[in-house]
Amino acid sequence: MKNQTITVRPLSAHTGAEITGVDLAQPLSDQTYLEIRETFNQWGAIFFRDQDITPTQQLEFARRFGNVTPDDYASNLPLVDGYEELKEIVRKPDDPRNVGGFWHMDKCFMPDPDMASLLYAKELPPYGGDTMFAHLGAAFDALSPGLQATLETLSTVLIKSRAYGDGGTPAPGVTAEGYAEALEKFAGIEATHPAVARHPETGRKVLFVGPVYSDRFAGWTREESLPLLDYLSGILTRPEHTCRFRWEEGSLAMWDNRAVAHYALDDYPGHRRSMHRVTIQGPWLEPTSAAA
Ligand code: OGA
Ligand code: MN
Repeated sequence: MKNQTITVRPLSAHTGAEITGVDLAQPLSDQTYLEIRETFNQWGAIFFRDQDITPTQQLEFARRFGNVTPDDYASNLPLVDGYEELKEIVRKPDDPRNVGGFWHMDKCFMPDPDMASLLYAKELPPYGGDTMFAHLGAAFDALSPGLQATLETLSTVLIKSRAYGDGGTPAPGVTAEGYAEALEKFAGIEATHPAVARHPETGRKVLFVGPVYSDRFAGWTREESLPLLDYLSGILTRPEHTCRFRWEEGSLAMWDNRAVAHYALDDYPGHRRSMHRVTIQGPWLEPTSAAA
């Protein structure tokens, strides 16, 4: 499709594209919406700059793409005053760690994760705080046909509390008490997803293996799973499979949790960063015909 209303500038071969020619404070025409949706499907992460929008306008934009629901599982995050669908993703200067500072897909530990997340920059540190994206389809394509076929028969168990530690050892920035609390608070929050799935809008196969949340392959032990999970994480996060977004005042990013993993860089100690986040529901990944 040739775009009539927007201009698209890709950041890398596999993921990330900046869109210009849109003012998100205005209602989107159907044509502009379709062009943005197409770009989102193709690149997995899209970026807009120099936007000046209110929380209501951010929600209206999000609602063009799907249902917007309150985000219960991003617990500990404050709501933006008066908006139950809008979270403030904030890192205060003395917080020991940021939100999302490791490779993940949002809510991949739930049976029905959100299709997309939409983040609008409110307050940025003087340096650092970029967000990286890695394409799950590019990772799948990079594997041998033999490993692809094997992975198509596997499922992955993803566990929420794994972000807080592993096997009794707290994750960096997490205290022993914080880890123990998370284990208790998030007990039972886990899901099993096919390791390879089909994107419902592009038909592309993706490797749905989250480097931190993936605990094991279903039916395998953690010990048996780790070498292969580590190998796959390495492929997913190969620099060539990623892009890196540098935030500026007025930047807005929207990513597809069915197509990319993301990572919030924690490289601005002593500074504050605050973003407004909306999550969007939509058609989830589909099993492939080879799935067991
Ligand atoms: C998130 C997240 C990334 C960032 O909101 O889910 O991972 O850069 N944020 O803040
Ligand atoms: Mn996230």
